[in-house]
Amino acid sequence: MSSLTNTQHFDKDAAIGVFDSGIGGLSVLKHLRAQLPKEKWLYIADSDYTPYGEKSDEEIIARCIKITDFFIAQNIKALVVACNTATAAAAAVLRQRYPELILVAMEPGLKPAALHSQSKVVGVLATQSTLRSNKFKLLQQTLSQETQVQFIPQACVGLVNEIEKGNLAANEIIELIHRYVPPLLAQNVDHLVLGCTHYPFVAHIIEKLIVETLGTAHNVKLIDTGEAVARRLAHLLETKKLLGSSGENEVLARATGSTSTLQLALSFVMDTTDVLAQSVSL
Ligand code: DGL
Repeated sequence: MSSLTNTQHFDKDAAIGVFDSGIGGLSVLKHLRAQLPKEKWLYIADSDYTPYGEKSDEEIIARCIKITDFFIAQNIKALVVACNTATAAAAAVLRQRYPELILVAMEPGLKPAALHSQSKVVGVLATQSTLRSNKFKLLQQTLSQETQVQFIPQACVGLVNEIEKGNLAANEIIELIHRYVPPLLAQNVDHLVLGCTHYPFVAHIIEKLIVETLGTAHNVKLIDTGEAVARRLAHLLETKKLLGSSGENEVLARATGSTSTLQLALSFVMDTTDVLAQSVSL
């Protein structure tokens, strides 16, 4: 039984678990490492089960529990669910199952976008599963009422799958972005929320399309919440006196399926190239 009990003690020098359905969570890990350089990181890419966004909630929850149980068995002191889709489907279940564990999860950046929007129209790019979740619908509804901002959700079906193939210059990725983004620009959005942690990997393609469509003087901003998640984790670790002091920002990276894309993506994200992605059966 790997659920935590009330008597569980955490070691400040223990590692922090971070996971995603694939490489997307590395876009969050980048911010975590920048903010918390004295920690040790365990990363899992659930590449055998990617994409989560086209799976049922039950399947996603089962994967999240499996991965978290594995991390708990490795004595982690905190967990980052670096996946919007996993957060929407499973964060509440994980919080209930591991009440003592510091758990930080994603929230698509609707709030910062709404607060800064001049046009009062905000586009949200995310997976199908995130957009159909009650968690997302509630956030959208609450913020629309509070700020009078209109949110336009756009499910980017197929995009995670293409990113996971590891070639960020692939025509398939460019075609999908050219399918999903222009209708939002045509509706006068001034913010595009990257509501999936894979999308920062293709932010440069989205930026290029925006410039091609609206010119260099455009005022469309992309919103990524990786940095806010890192700040939140730092705050919680500090409050619970669990900030690490002996870690050297090292990363142990594992994938449940093929490790090749993870290996490639690690070299984009890490300032060192000596992290070897390993397989794990879960
Ligand atoms: N990175 C995940 C997210 O943030 C991708 C989900 C998927 O595997 O479809 O939503």
